[in-house]
Amino acid sequence: MTVRTKSEKVYIASCCVIPGGVNSPVRSFKEVGILPMVVKSGKGDTIWDVDGNPFIDYCMSWGALMLGHAEDSVVEKVIEQMKNGSSFGITTEIEGMFAEKITSLISGMDKIRFVSSGTEATMSAIRLARGFTGKNTILKFNGNYHGHVDSLLVQAGSGVALLSQASSMGVPQDALRHTVSLPYNNVELVRSFIQSREDIAAVLLEPVAANMGVVPATQQFIDMLREETEKRGILLIFDEVITGFRVGLKGASELYGVVPDLFCFGKIIGGGLPAAAFGGRADIMNHLAPLGGVYQAGTLSGNPLAMQAGYETISHLERPGFYEALNKKADLLLGPIQDLITDRSLPIQLQRVGSMFTLFFSPVPITCKEDSVHVDVAKFTEFFQYLFHEGIYMAPSQYEANFVSMAHTVDHLVKTRDRILKFLSAL
Ligand SMILES: Cc1ncc(COP(=O)(O)O)c(C=O)c1O
Repeated sequence: MTVRTKSEKVYIASCCVIPGGVNSPVRSFKEVGILPMVVKSGKGDTIWDVDGNPFIDYCMSWGALMLGHAEDSVVEKVIEQMKNGSSFGITTEIEGMFAEKITSLISGMDKIRFVSSGTEATMSAIRLARGFTGKNTILKFNGNYHGHVDSLLVQAGSGVALLSQASSMGVPQDALRHTVSLPYNNVELVRSFIQSREDIAAVLLEPVAANMGVVPATQQFIDMLREETEKRGILLIFDEVITGFRVGLKGASELYGVVPDLFCFGKIIGGGLPAAAFGGRADIMNHLAPLGGVYQAGTLSGNPLAMQAGYETISHLERPGFYEALNKKADLLLGPIQDLITDRSLPIQLQRVGSMFTLFFSPVPITCKEDSVHVDVAKFTEFFQYLFHEGIYMAPSQYEANFVSMAHTVDHLVKTRDRILKFLSAL
């Protein structure tokens, strides 16, 4: 059993001054029934708690860290920037350089605006969509999470799945008046809904959902959304806060061969610092203030420390062979696990897109939030606790994604794989 005396002490002290002792609910480990981790440091693929216990990390700051913790060149860039000032609230050269890099990488992204969190990105994107189209309704999908924007906290995935309310308390019913949430991947139902309404400003989705565990949209679903929205002047918004730069350098848009009107990015784009962004077609983006009438702003938007970390991170991802090497690491970890599941017909689904994956304890594939009734959450808890005490940290919820980073070593991938195979073999 892992000794965590200091972690317990620190956590209990935090609980006196921070609600639940955490600054974001899923960190509380509520679903997995153990004391939350209190982390001290991280390097490469490993984090250490305040008691000095090492853990191989597959949460990777919820997918933000493609290069692992404290990657040397990212650290260097941030230190260099810090010496020259950390925040100005004035335009800097690195913002423009980074904007140019992203817009030249992502087709359909003519212009970009940087913000500080994924929540801000989606909130701003739907405001822009409403301002641009002059319509109000936003169509989203059950189990897709787009941050804690009032009007998007409807059927919103993992972090809120444990709340007894359908959405959060404190969200006025009025704030939800213009939001409709429908089942993910249900082509016919969603198509007929879109065809039946004149008031839809935008359709917002996670193209590979990751907040109900990894659940990719079908090609047919994405194609239908593009076709129906295009015909009706509805904006299609891809929330690529997780998939952006994760499923490939050009994100889910390239994976599906579909260009949305607006994109939201977060996590990886900040290289581990607080940055996110939204962007897309120039004619839409030009509706933002100061050019247009859609107001959006931020004191720390385009913060130079975050821009440096993001720029340096994306520069690594651009190197030839990066994603092939990353996916090979994921193959090494996951290939034999999939083989065991198949050979023994285990009631488990390994759902994976590239380097992101979820192991669902379910006899049937999970294709939408409604399928989660098949999931054995108690078995996941057992699995999580077993790995945790073996020094392996998976995302502390059945309904979250895990991430392999470029920093994961062969030794650690093999250790993780063998422990998972041992657990599954004993089922
Ligand atoms: C797909 C998606 N969109 C938006 C967000 C919100 O991002 P943030 O937590 O940075 O506000 C998240 C966070 O996990 C996310 O996964």
